[in-house]
Amino acid sequence: MTSYTSRWTIADALKVHADDPTTTMPVIDQDFPTMDEAVMIWDTGALRNIHGQTVTFKGWHVIWSLAVDKIDLSDADIYDEWHSRNDRAYIGYWFSKTGSGDDWQWGGRLLKTTADLRPHEWSGGLVMREGTGNVVDMFYTSEADSPVNQSVPSVSSGQIYADANGVWFDGFETTTEMFSADGVHNANAQQDEYFDFRDPHPFMNPDDGRIYCLYESNVPGMRGAFTIGSEEQGVLPPGFSVSAGAQYGAASIGIAVLDDGAYKRGDFSRDQWTQLDPLVTALGVNDQMERPHVVFKDNYTYLFTISHHSTYSGGLSGPDGVYGFVSETGLFGPYKPLNSSGLVLGNPSAAPYETYSHFVDPDGYVQAFIDTLPAPGNDPNNPQTFRIGGTLAPTVKISLEGDRTFLSEVHGYGQIYAQAAWPVGAAWDHRPTV
Ligand code: FRU
Repeated sequence: MTSYTSRWTIADALKVHADDPTTTMPVIDQDFPTMDEAVMIWDTGALRNIHGQTVTFKGWHVIWSLAVDKIDLSDADIYDEWHSRNDRAYIGYWFSKTGSGDDWQWGGRLLKTTADLRPHEWSGGLVMREGTGNVVDMFYTSEADSPVNQSVPSVSSGQIYADANGVWFDGFETTTEMFSADGVHNANAQQDEYFDFRDPHPFMNPDDGRIYCLYESNVPGMRGAFTIGSEEQGVLPPGFSVSAGAQYGAASIGIAVLDDGAYKRGDFSRDQWTQLDPLVTALGVNDQMERPHVVFKDNYTYLFTISHHSTYSGGLSGPDGVYGFVSETGLFGPYKPLNSSGLVLGNPSAAPYETYSHFVDPDGYVQAFIDTLPAPGNDPNNPQTFRIGGTLAPTVKISLEGDRTFLSEVHGYGQIYAQAAWPVGAAWDHRPTV
């Protein structure tokens, strides 16, 4: 297969501007509701099929979230508990009859602790296994900080059950590691002690029926030792010179392909995957492109990823939010940045850290979590005046119009829209209907 690495250039990123109403999240109300007072959640995703459609199971809506249990329910320590949450992160789940966002019930841990190869469970996706009645694969990131940074896209499998009273799971007793940063297609811990290698997103490519997996990664090579050449720069305005430190931005969107036949066998082990060249790199622009995911629509392939204001390099800047790229020639590109700049939905400058971890579904509904919201009239950059979120943000909808996107609708907090009901006993060759 022809693979092509596209670039998010410095010239593209110079077009990123906060507060354009077509690419900006609405300012969230100070009185936002909290899903559950005993737990704080952030990265979240809906139960889906391998084609990317959000599915219901026996009529129930199901989502997974990264979670921590609150230690101090009085909220006295909420700033510390929230900002150290990655050290205690586990994956939990919610279920709801309506998906409206008003009736999520917390189901607790998804993976048994026997599945943990490392202390932290970070993002991935919860996917019904095609051709089965109720097998579900939780793709996730198995993470440890010491003695060196370890981050391995992994999967644990189980079964989903539901009756009139709710949803529960069984299994999820062991973990299979999928692949590791190899220093060739992406930076490993020896090259970059801050390397990112996480957030596996498997899907079936409608063009060839094969199973691929996207993931967050960095460009291979020693941290800070990159040359930012004309391909990374793009067409820069006269007199513009690349700022010092640009080479510390080295994000990439990685992709691996699964051997034919392995998906049907439920075999996701290391020898079944082949890593390919990354789909997009952001060398000279930004050091993180997280939670990459894909939407196929109208012969366009949309690649979405989340990124931070703080991970831009070389004096570039942009809001925390979801960014994206579009290809007219299928999964392997070439891709160009959506809206010319790459910005799809950023936080408003009045509340620059209000939301993060946006995930775009095939119909353009975007779900995210509330991070920190400045109290009215207070300095949006002073942590003492924040209200901490730890709960889902209002779901918004974007309209995908070729190489442009537009914010078009604002819905309820944590509202989820399913594209399909999981067909119990689904045929292997089930294809998306939207
Ligand atoms: C995105 C992210 C993911 C990671 C998780 C850890 O918000 O940084 O890349 O899996 O959060 O909390």
